[in-house]
Amino acid sequence: MIDINKIRNDFPILSRTINGKPLIYFDNGATTQKPKAVIDAIVKYYSEQNANIHRGVHTLSREATILFEEARKTVANFTNASEDELIFTAGTTDGINIVANGLNLAEGSEIIVSEMEHHSNILPWQLWCERNKGALKYIPIKDDGTLEIKKLETLITKNTKLIAVTQVSNTLGVINPIDEIIKIAKFNGIPVLVDGAQAVPHMKTDLKNLGADFFVFSAHKVYAPTGVGVLWMDKKWLPKLQLSKAGGGTIKTVSFEKTEYVDGPLRFEPGTPNIEGVIGLAAAFKYLGEIGMDKIAKHEHTLLKYATEKLNELPEVEIYANHLNKAAVISFNVKGAHPFDVGTLLDKYGIAVRTGHHCTQPLMKHYNIPGTVRASFAMYNTLEEINEFIEALQKSIKMLS
Ligand SMILES: Cc1ncc(COP(=O)(O)O)c(C=O)c1O
Repeated sequence: MIDINKIRNDFPILSRTINGKPLIYFDNGATTQKPKAVIDAIVKYYSEQNANIHRGVHTLSREATILFEEARKTVANFTNASEDELIFTAGTTDGINIVANGLNLAEGSEIIVSEMEHHSNILPWQLWCERNKGALKYIPIKDDGTLEIKKLETLITKNTKLIAVTQVSNTLGVINPIDEIIKIAKFNGIPVLVDGAQAVPHMKTDLKNLGADFFVFSAHKVYAPTGVGVLWMDKKWLPKLQLSKAGGGTIKTVSFEKTEYVDGPLRFEPGTPNIEGVIGLAAAFKYLGEIGMDKIAKHEHTLLKYATEKLNELPEVEIYANHLNKAAVISFNVKGAHPFDVGTLLDKYGIAVRTGHHCTQPLMKHYNIPGTVRASFAMYNTLEEINEFIEALQKSIKMLS
């Protein structure tokens, strides 16, 4: 069991009021709140250690470099990866773009995504296909939000050069059978990129055993700062992936005739990185490590189950992917009401939910809806908050009918 009161006390923002009511933050899929451990690490860095990293000989620069590179080790430990396979990026979107622009695929190659992807895992591939006479295909979903995994094999041709799928749907919370997808891909000799943006916050991440080729996530969805993320790639890709961004910090020697780049992750980290963000991410992972991802996953599943049961008691509510093989995310609509109106009314009660298409317009098209209301939970949410939410939702439904 996690100590929920202690955890809540670790997040200063949770004591805020919104419209005179205690904040109930159910928009964790968009971004999570930050614990004091993360805020303090950033304040300490700027108060005591701020300097540019990697090439300074003075004390502050050496200290900042050590912090930055220790952070890489912390991220490696947390994700069961090797630190020399971890590249710091600006986030999930950035990581996917680095791969899409670096794979150097032959003209006419085909890429497979899924119908539930976030736009960030569609558009970089779509751009590539438009510019290189490629074809973008997708694994369709069933109405319960799960992938039609049997269709995957029928989509694969000799031109399929990558499968890029999300581990957890940001809109539905559905957990995809990544192991099975990777098995099929490997059998056909196709590399796999896994979008872990919504998985890392909710479950244990084990990159060594996952068997993917690329894995991306954003720090801000794991209790850490915005504007930083991680691209993990299997070692074999480090020398193969072409550079799409170049600049200071990535080189061994530069001359106007020829530049030699370093090996390893730094090759993909041009310019001054988001040092505070990386330090914040390490602080977040240390904090999560102390609590334990298994315990967090268990608590969040209890929240998911309880909220699903409560919402299913309301005849006006329709849940998409109405089952429990999910991370703690529930997308729903109130029949006859626009999701924006539901979200605006809930805000009056201090409840933050996300409304709209959640950057998954193809998924919205599948359900033939403009958007949903999404309640996404985190480790600091409680059953009491869900009760408040259900009560506020019932009042909102009355107002809207
Ligand atoms: C599954 C998924 N992929 C990609 C992204 C994009 O993440 P970022 O905006 O941090 O780059 C998100 C953000 O919501 C997401 O949920």
